[in-house]
Amino acid sequence: MCGIVGYVGPRDARDVVLEGLRRLEYRGYDSAGIAVLADGELSAEKKAGKLANLEKVLAERPLPEAGTGIGHTRWATHGGPTDRNAHPHLSADGTVAVIHNGIIENFAPLRSECEAGGVEFRSETDTEVAAHLLAATYRETPEGPGRLAEAMRRVCRRLEGAFTLVASHADEPDTLVAARRSSPLVVGVGDGEYFLGSDVAAFIAHTREARELGQDQVVEIDRTRGLTVTTFDGAPVEPVAYTVDWDAAAAEKGGYDWFMLKEIAEQPRAIADTLLGRLGEQGQLVLDEVRLSDQDLRDVDKVFVVACGTAYHAGLIAKYAIEHWTRIPVEVELASEFRYRDPVLDRSTLVVVISQSGETMDTLMALRHAKDQKARVLAICNANGSTIPRESDAVLYTHAGPEVAVASTKGFLTQLVACYLVGLFLAQVRGIKYADEVGSVVDQLRRLPEAVEQVLGGMDAVRELARSLAGEGTILFLGRHVGFPVALEGALKLKELAYIHAEGFAAGELKHGSIAVIDQGTPVICIAPARLSPLHGKVVSNIQEVRARGARTIVIAEEGDEDVVPYADHLVRVPPTPTLLSPVVTTVPLQVFACEVADTRGYDVDQPRNLAKSVTVE
Ligand code: G6P
Repeated sequence: MCGIVGYVGPRDARDVVLEGLRRLEYRGYDSAGIAVLADGELSAEKKAGKLANLEKVLAERPLPEAGTGIGHTRWATHGGPTDRNAHPHLSADGTVAVIHNGIIENFAPLRSECEAGGVEFRSETDTEVAAHLLAATYRETPEGPGRLAEAMRRVCRRLEGAFTLVASHADEPDTLVAARRSSPLVVGVGDGEYFLGSDVAAFIAHTREARELGQDQVVEIDRTRGLTVTTFDGAPVEPVAYTVDWDAAAAEKGGYDWFMLKEIAEQPRAIADTLLGRLGEQGQLVLDEVRLSDQDLRDVDKVFVVACGTAYHAGLIAKYAIEHWTRIPVEVELASEFRYRDPVLDRSTLVVVISQSGETMDTLMALRHAKDQKARVLAICNANGSTIPRESDAVLYTHAGPEVAVASTKGFLTQLVACYLVGLFLAQVRGIKYADEVGSVVDQLRRLPEAVEQVLGGMDAVRELARSLAGEGTILFLGRHVGFPVALEGALKLKELAYIHAEGFAAGELKHGSIAVIDQGTPVICIAPARLSPLHGKVVSNIQEVRARGARTIVIAEEGDEDVVPYADHLVRVPPTPTLLSPVVTTVPLQVFACEVADTRGYDVDQPRNLAKSVTVE
């Protein structure tokens, strides 16, 4: 949420910053802005709305060429999405430009303090206080190398909340300084040039060499002095270096109309990559990144899965698999709820946090809440070097590659696969499953890429159906057992992308009240379980129940399942897949459906209104 870019080096900072913003726009698109430092003077331009609006302004009123620049794409928190509230914010004396991601919680008293000193605020944002404070603090900081960094440290020690700040000062033409507390920031290191970004996508076109920053750290990038990292108190820190394992092409649309379509199509590859190298020679799972001892895993007597949005739905499915394979009780909870109640945890609780971005603030806070109570935390995450895996005891990376579309698709399917691996690994370590039993489930997992490929091959009918239903006001989803979270995910996708009222129901629960909403012609998408599942007959009955009340039924069922045929107005076929793994295939038509409905309605599929991909505020 909010994209941050910074550049210092020999190239034209205007180009580097704008290109970075293009790649980070999925993090927020309420406004965009840029500031460059040329000839000892800061110049900035900012505009409400998508980046294209800013680009239009820049085409008419270009900023001067410069070697130092910062840029921001905003998801509004304090203050509406207006030109004035757009970042960068400049100090009253014009010496400092600041961009910010997060919330400065004590901005009100700080603002009063600045106002008492005669500063007139130009925006309603919390960010602007940082610009004024930094300008004033800089004046009080002794001259010499590192002066802006020292001023930043002094300011940060006064700030409460979560923030990434990047600042440029008119007197320091070759320097940028940034600080982070609980919000994301990575540094890119090129040849005689440095980059700052909310994530590596900001600079992946220029370098794959990155540095992780820890909590409460300040980084200075300077064309001659290089990279310097300290804590907020000034203690030197050696940042962790890593190489990004994907390149710029992975973050391009590659001929698709939408990133989401490309990411849906990439799912077979993403699943295969997530499974790669995780099976040992004797069929046993080898999860090297899970840095918890076998004893720790044997001691686990309860599992919590905590996540937000689509990742939460992956957690709901994980519960069925982990409980079935390990017989350990599993609770699944929304991170934003978990964080503010009093969950019963101790050192034998394993908390699995799932986050594609690794930066979702609700999930991060839940993680810290769990760690405070001595629980062991295992992260399932896609973004290397992000905060959530860094703060967890162990991590299992999904290898989905960069996910740019705001609505998660390949992120979700790979999270499912990772959850299955965690469940099997626990069962293996605890001796509940023999290696050959684990191996046979892994074999089933290995068949998933092909199954998903097959589903993708038959999506024309789903697209056609989506176009015919694009004018509906309500679409409902039904599922049972692992099909229930799939129904929730299908409904979420449709809400996120197409702004249609959609709800997912547990098929058996519908008759206890919600069935009253079914009217003549209400579209109901039903996820039928595997033919051999004991629940199959029950769900067929539930489909009959809604149809008897006038629903138009769209049934997703296995090939060869003839029982559903009489009750399906439309049938979508998927290849037979073992029950616990079936969400990996049944979700795919729902992704395609939501994407096509949104496209037909003329909406921006990759950047739905009001949303941001990486939500870094609570
Ligand atoms: C946002 C996105 C969702 C995503 C959720 C969790 O709300 O719009 O698509 O599922 O965050 O994101 P995470 O990065 O933690 O998986």
